[in-house]
Amino acid sequence: MEIIRIPRIMQDTSGGHLLHGRTIGLVPTMGALHEGHLSLVRMAKAENSITVVSIFVNPRQFGPAEDFSRYPRDPEGDAEKLSREGIDILFSPDASLMYPAGFSTQVDVRGLSEGLCGMMRPDHFTGVATIVAKLFHIVRPTRAYFGQKDFQQTLVIKRMVRDLDMGLDVVVCPVIREVDGLAMSSRNAYLTQEERKAASAIHRSLLEASAAVKSGIIQGSSVKKLMMDVLGAEPLVSEVQYCSVYDPRTLNEVERINGEVLLALAVKIGNIRLIDNMLVSSGTGSASPANPLIP
Ligand code: PAJ
Repeated sequence: MEIIRIPRIMQDTSGGHLLHGRTIGLVPTMGALHEGHLSLVRMAKAENSITVVSIFVNPRQFGPAEDFSRYPRDPEGDAEKLSREGIDILFSPDASLMYPAGFSTQVDVRGLSEGLCGMMRPDHFTGVATIVAKLFHIVRPTRAYFGQKDFQQTLVIKRMVRDLDMGLDVVVCPVIREVDGLAMSSRNAYLTQEERKAASAIHRSLLEASAAVKSGIIQGSSVKKLMMDVLGAEPLVSEVQYCSVYDPRTLNEVERINGEVLLALAVKIGNIRLIDNMLVSSGTGSASPANPLIP
């Protein structure tokens, strides 16, 4: 595994691979790698000749009161995990090289960036879109891999790629969960033991809502209430920032469920903000058996 820290060297290296007709798979991350990240790495490796993983804790996607300075960092552990996965290149640039003095360009994806996480974190998706655009120009991937865990992020990036003709495929990979259903996240490391237990309410609320949608409930507000009730029963859930049923293409709230919907939420457990989501299609509960192998 080669470690590259200088954007220009990364760009030239990618240029060489592309000239030889190789495909490049990129997995952008902020490090503190867990099985969720590694699932994207494995997918990228399976589908491309060259796999590049970037690690960059991007200051511009954190708000002033957010956890940039204490965001978990584990450069040695990450490098070891990635080398074990057999990736080709770890791209880990310095902030001074990514944001040189006088840096003044940004990418705004209007609309999709404004609801859900964008309501509480107003500049977050501008920070994400700008750094991901830079990573795409530096690494020049054929395909880039993102987790459904950050569903809104995947929509913002797909829209940016389309609007700016970036000419690459965005691949969205499933949410990887702990045994009790909690979505893996670098921020789970902040939870105390009690908070960690309480956090399983997030997945439970999604499961209940998903069962309700599959059973044929079509009122968005009834499904939302089910989720809120599960969260409300957990005393360590200190705040629900959003929690509802959304159209997975526009992120508008859905009142009458028809076809596929997104169940999504952001909550605080103690001081830790966690997000999760699930895609579900209406009325599939009775139409298809839970186990497709059983007729
Ligand atoms: P980060 O939070 O490090 O996540 C990197 C990628 O891993 C994202 O695409 C995220 O959706 C995915 N991921 C995280 N947890 C996952 C899980 N439990 N299952 C599946 N995939 C998971 O997202 C970012 O970094 C940044 O915003 C970034 C895109 C790198 C831009 O700075």
